[in-house]
Amino acid sequence: MKHTRRLYVTLIALAMFLIFAYFYTGRADSQKQNAIPKVGILQLMSHPALDQINKGINDTLKKNGYVDGKNIKIEFQNAQNDQSNLRTISKQFVQDNVDVAVGIATPSVQSLKNATSKIPIVMGAVTDPEGAGIISNNKKPGKNITGVSDQAPLEAQLELMKQVIPNLKTIGIIYTSSDASATSQMKKMQKLAKKQGLNVKVSSINSVNDIQQVGTALAESVQTIYVPTDNTVASGMKLLSSIATKQNIAVFPAATTMVKDGGLATVGLSQYELGEETGKHVVRILEHKEDPATTPVTFMKKGHLMLNEKMAKKLNIQFSDSLIKEAQKKGQILK
Ligand code: TRP
Repeated sequence: MKHTRRLYVTLIALAMFLIFAYFYTGRADSQKQNAIPKVGILQLMSHPALDQINKGINDTLKKNGYVDGKNIKIEFQNAQNDQSNLRTISKQFVQDNVDVAVGIATPSVQSLKNATSKIPIVMGAVTDPEGAGIISNNKKPGKNITGVSDQAPLEAQLELMKQVIPNLKTIGIIYTSSDASATSQMKKMQKLAKKQGLNVKVSSINSVNDIQQVGTALAESVQTIYVPTDNTVASGMKLLSSIATKQNIAVFPAATTMVKDGGLATVGLSQYELGEETGKHVVRILEHKEDPATTPVTFMKKGHLMLNEKMAKKLNIQFSDSLIKEAQKKGQILK
């Protein structure tokens, strides 16, 4: 008799525990589902390329049904190209416990990486993630970071310069020494050009304030100037273009947005599409379909030919018929 009662008590206690556990975990689950996800976007600074990338990210979230303030919270911050801003914002994202953190440009991702090894981080256009020490293997990132590279089609860009500038022998490259992305591209382009028997003159700057002096000196000693996807030069592209144009020197930039700001031509990636690819990573992570550790970095190969007719006229340069036809068909001509 005593034994049976003890058994009953035990069974009832067990049943109560199971019921409690069922409701408790069930509720916790639904609470988690109801809380709207938070995405932190950290953009290094404003220049047309990074702004386009950010737009591509936001449009892609919208296209996938995420409406800011309704079923997602998008926390956007611009670091104004300032290291201490980068640190403060990164820490803030971690404190806010964002579900995904996006870094637009290399320094943003480096700063987010320093702030968290747990929260998933998506790279918005980091040219050389391995070279910048962000991840050790682009195919198998291994940790909490994956995303998109904006590595430009350098061979096609060099080919374009050779087509447009007759008897090309000497190229100048201007880049910012502290910009990991620009440095990586400068080295690759330098190697490529040298291999093809061209002379390369490389000049570095530390800030936008150096563009006037360094750009002028460079334009005096080369036949044309190439600019990698350099965040500082991108923000001072109009200035560089006007300096070079005064000396009748064309500037070939690595990105289409920089052609709009006074470059002569490029075969470049669409910055908006880079943003779209970045946004797709965010969506897949939010929907638990993607683990950064096992998701390869996205590389985009397709360059768009963009010709700036206005600059060509100023520089007295005539694009060949075949280039113009190609741009009309598959690219863009700015008039
Ligand atoms: N690749 C740059 C970085 O890693 C960011 C970037 C993307 C960029 N598109 C650009 C810079 C166009 C200059 C121009 O920091």
